[in-house]
Amino acid sequence: MNVSRPNPADAQRLARLRDEDARHHVHAWGNHHALKTQGPNMIVRGEGAHVWDADGHRLIDGVAGLWSSNLGHSCRPVRDAIVAQLDELPFFNTFRGTTHPRAIELSRTLVDLMAPDGVAAVMFSNGGSDAVEGALKLARQYHKLRGDRDRHKFIALRQGYHGVHFGGMSVNGSTNFRRAYEPMLPGCFHIDSPWLYRNAYTRDEAELGRLVAAQLEREIQFQGPDTVAAFIAEPIQGAGGVIVPPANFWPLVREVCSRHGVLLIADEVVTGFGRGGAMFGTRLWDVKADLWCLAKGISSGYVPLGATAVSAKVADVFDADTSGAGQIAHGYTYSAHPVAAAAAIATLKILVDEDVPGHVARIAPAFQERMRGLVQRVPFVGDVRGRGLMLGIEMVADRATRATLPRASDLPARVARAAYRHGLMTRVSGPNMILSPPLVISEVELDLLASRLEAAFDEVAAA
Ligand SMILES: Cc1ncc(COP(=O)(O)O)c(C=O)c1O
Repeated sequence: MNVSRPNPADAQRLARLRDEDARHHVHAWGNHHALKTQGPNMIVRGEGAHVWDADGHRLIDGVAGLWSSNLGHSCRPVRDAIVAQLDELPFFNTFRGTTHPRAIELSRTLVDLMAPDGVAAVMFSNGGSDAVEGALKLARQYHKLRGDRDRHKFIALRQGYHGVHFGGMSVNGSTNFRRAYEPMLPGCFHIDSPWLYRNAYTRDEAELGRLVAAQLEREIQFQGPDTVAAFIAEPIQGAGGVIVPPANFWPLVREVCSRHGVLLIADEVVTGFGRGGAMFGTRLWDVKADLWCLAKGISSGYVPLGATAVSAKVADVFDADTSGAGQIAHGYTYSAHPVAAAAAIATLKILVDEDVPGHVARIAPAFQERMRGLVQRVPFVGDVRGRGLMLGIEMVADRATRATLPRASDLPARVARAAYRHGLMTRVSGPNMILSPPLVISEVELDLLASRLEAAFDEVAAA
């Protein structure tokens, strides 16, 4: 283990900091009763694919900050671009016809990067939830501009995750993410996730893809196609447990949406910028969406940034409007923040110049294969799934029957704590352990990550 212990004065200071954190800091997704008793994990430094906690414990960052620090934690060109931008223009808004050089450069860079996908323009925001909200709002406005004034409904997948704003939360497919804040936005409906390990229909991938796409079509017909604005989904469902859809699912979904005039929104907040082994998740399925939600890896997480990418089909309708109804009544003080834009321009240059998605596509298959071995190795691992550098490990009460873990089970947390002791930061979401290391992780570091994860599972299985 890589631990350098703090001296007593440091230890006292850290204890005070932890106590202040528990008292004053409302944590994102925190359980405050638990935090007050257990205290937080405090991460103080990062370099490459590693982070250090306040106790001097060096960990492989198995979560890339939070699916975000794709270029690792010490990418000098991104840091330099941020510092240079702070010297040049730390902030100005982009409201009502104002702009600045980084907003223009980043728009052009993104549109060039996504030209093969049919993207014509981008609208900026502060993160993934914002990017989703922007996509949902543009989808409704697009239909209104075309005279389809009743098209306001959204359809989404169960197990989907689209952030925490009221729109995104309403299309989220996990009820436990919504319960505390109900009622949700009216007009949001869910169909089954194309989830091979857990579905009521079949264990055949292609059949499942067809069945769920047909379910989408039935739902659109049931709602009335002239009332449905958009279908939103992640190319690979991330927070819901890294659910990789059958290969035919997205192409079929594209056909269904086109047939009924429903916009297809790809939530690429996680899958965008190389995580699945292609620059965008939709490219894994050879599909062009109508709107894309982008965030996280866009700036390697160094400065918060979100973007909604708009296809030519949608942009043309806004461009052609002369009535005034195409006015965008949306945007944030910090939309296209110059420092975030500078970080993103530098990030995207490295992603392309160093073919980071290609690196992922080369190193990930052996890693995925090795991790699937956990199913044979560990009695309480039911399923291991993933693509690229997205990995989900589902823990179960009974592998033979696939019985789910009781909600109160502390098994995933125990494995995460063991992994931490072995020098690996992981993330737990319900019964799943989710791994998403920086995309620039080396093959050797990825092997080490796998060994530490196996050791953690072995330790808990033996206990
Ligand atoms: C697919 C997806 N959409 C949206 C979001 C929300 O992004 P943010 O937390 O930046 O608001 C997330 C966050 O993990 C996500 O995974």
